Amino acid sequence: MNNLILQAQEAQACRACDLAKSRRQAVFGSGPSDARLMVIGEAPGRHEDEGGAPFIGRSGQVLVRLLEEELGLGRDDVYIANAVKCRPPENRTPTKQEIVACGPRLAAQIAALGPRVLLCVGATAQRAVIGDASPMREAHGQIFETRCGAKAVVTYHPAAALRGGSRIVDLMRQDLHVVRALLSTAS
Ligand code: URA
Repeated sequence: MNNLILQAQEAQACRACDLAKSRRQAVFGSGPSDARLMVIGEAPGRHEDEGGAPFIGRSGQVLVRLLEEELGLGRDDVYIANAVKCRPPENRTPTKQEIVACGPRLAAQIAALGPRVLLCVGATAQRAVIGDASPMREAHGQIFETRCGAKAVVTYHPAAALRGGSRIVDLMRQDLHVVRALLSTAS
């Protein structure tokens, strides 16, 4: 069976942290298994916990619009997942323990996909994927090498764009130009 399908099934049975007690379902990820771009967010929110797919709420609308406008890629062209696969209660930020507990699952997912570029949206993904904790104002738009061989770019979480308005959206657009350049050069 396809490795990703198997991993998604395993995620549904996962009890590695207490989020398993309050989640409706694990939200493993969605998109084509041959996607060149993998987008990694923080964790599912209420809509995602109910619907079973990542970024299907308001943040997702912003993200998908920007991917389309800046990269010409639709939701079905990219693989979208989260650093933490289960919804934290009240949408709080995942704890360090929760991020660590989900780490092997994320690493296996990235390895199975083998994307060219990882787009980390928000500080949780930045820490989980790159192990970098520098402030977003410094990290965004930079290119990081990762152990899996893909290049990673950090940008703001779309929830920050919903709060911070056009200034954050403009920064996200600039960061996506870095992704676009990487996708066009990556063989
Ligand atoms: N925020 C995230 O980080 N991920 C989602 O899937 C939805 C909102």
